Amino acid sequence: MKVIIGAGSQQWPGWTATHQDQLDLLRRNTWEEWFGERRADALLCEHVFEHLTEQEARDASKICFDFLKPGGFLRVAVPDGYFRNEEYQNTVKIGGPGPADHPAAGHRSVFNYNTLTQVLRSAGFSVDVLEYCDDGGRFHFNHWDWSSGPIYRSLLSDHRNSLNELGFVSLIVDAIKPR
Ligand SMILES: C[S@@+](CC[C@H](N)C(=O)[O-])C[C@H]1O[C@@H](n2cnc3c(N)ncnc32)[C@H](O)[C@@H]1O
Repeated sequence: MKVIIGAGSQQWPGWTATHQDQLDLLRRNTWEEWFGERRADALLCEHVFEHLTEQEARDASKICFDFLKPGGFLRVAVPDGYFRNEEYQNTVKIGGPGPADHPAAGHRSVFNYNTLTQVLRSAGFSVDVLEYCDDGGRFHFNHWDWSSGPIYRSLLSDHRNSLNELGFVSLIVDAIKPR
């Protein structure tokens, strides 16, 4: 069972898309009701964790951990606080760029690879970093299999990126539940 959390309009073949009213990262009881005795092989969470505070993200990570099978993984993509692009950072900052109806108005955190990996490790995950900027702003891509959990806002699929320019990157990690 492969489940998208906070799917919005996303639909990927083989994945069950869910929305906050079904699986709420802030409400464990929604997970207990939806999953019952089942557990997921994989969870996909693209540009959702930034809508949580860091403490909420810790609690949400623990929920994800508990509802995965041993050996399963949670793939998380969030805006990257270390991407050196003023316009990007202004858009993704906490509270978003200003207008209350902007998609980023609900942002509560800006993660970088240090803070996000700490959050996920605190829940018991081991973490592989797939795409990230280091604290010097340098972008890193560790080869990963897009088909095992598609992330649109990634180096190779986001329409804003090209060979010449990075227009929109994400911090993308796999959080793996030990067997
Ligand atoms: C920027 S949209 C991303 C939608 C989709 N994942 C994508 O990449 O296009 C943020 C999504 O996070 C969801 N969301 C926010 N808080 C959530 C929570 N506590 N639990 C589950 N989903 C949440 C929203 O409902 C929304 O669908």
